[in-house]
Amino acid sequence: MTDRFRVDGKVAVVTGAASGIGRASAVALANAGATVVCGDLDEAGLQETANQIGGATATLRTDVTKEADVAALVALALDTHGRLDVMANVAGIIVNNRIVDTTEEELDKVLSVNLKGVFFGCKAALAAMTNGGSIINMASAAIDTPAPGLVSYAMSKAAVTMLTRTAAQEGGKAGVRVNAVAPGYVVTPMTKRGGEERAAAVAEQMKRISPIGAVGEPEDIADSVLFLASDASRYMTGQILRPNGGAAMPW
Ligand SMILES: NC(=O)c1ccc[n+]([C@@H]2O[C@H](COP(=O)([O-])OP(=O)(O)OC[C@H]3O[C@@H](n4cnc5c(N)ncnc54)[C@H](O)[C@@H]3O)[C@@H](O)[C@H]2O)c1
Repeated sequence: MTDRFRVDGKVAVVTGAASGIGRASAVALANAGATVVCGDLDEAGLQETANQIGGATATLRTDVTKEADVAALVALALDTHGRLDVMANVAGIIVNNRIVDTTEEELDKVLSVNLKGVFFGCKAALAAMTNGGSIINMASAAIDTPAPGLVSYAMSKAAVTMLTRTAAQEGGKAGVRVNAVAPGYVVTPMTKRGGEERAAAVAEQMKRISPIGAVGEPEDIADSVLFLASDASRYMTGQILRPNGGAAMPW
């Protein structure tokens, strides 16, 4: 019997692959048998991811806010490997600011990366996946729990879930499944940008909230991405998977 949790022979594109959850996802997909094409703004980070994977992993400097860049990343997968089976839209940024202090530029920036970037990824993948595939969009626990200062981030991620469900409707006939992952807190370069001490304090707080006393590693989220990429999730589309240690339990 084939192991449906493996992704041998599949071609996967991962955005945000130079760091944190995107890098862990690219590595997990490669370890499970996929050929991975990695995109990110950070070329040095992409190279490090390629080194961790080994072999002939293709990388491309990609700004997901630019439709042509995302289309070029998908075209690289098609030109090099002749197919696209998995599209993981992971690139994202966070800005911490209250509504009254948020500038139009900040709002545009967060929506451009977190929402438009995922939209362009869905658009390019839906066009490329004529015979089935899996699109995985990175949302966040912020979709369920409003928090002061996280308005632009939470709005962008909530919108990603509707994009995901709409894309699931539109992709279904071609056998394309579209799901989102909404991780709880994970210590990554993103969450450490506010300082190591603050990151450690938030991690401790998350451990107290989690019934199993857990705080996630990038690899925990990568495993959800891998599951959604694999045929083990073939009965799932239009869903939101919440690897969060039980820190929130929405329906
Ligand atoms: N870390 C967490 O606690 C957490 C929780 C929930 C959701 N997420 C989401 O997971 C994803 C990855 O986050 P992370 O914690 O690994 O962050 P990270 O900062 O470590 O990685 C994000 C990557 O996205 C890239 N990126 C940013 N803007 C880009 C652009 N315009 N084009 C291409 N690449 C761009 C960065 O260069 C970086 O490599 C994000 O979408 C984030 O919102 C993270």
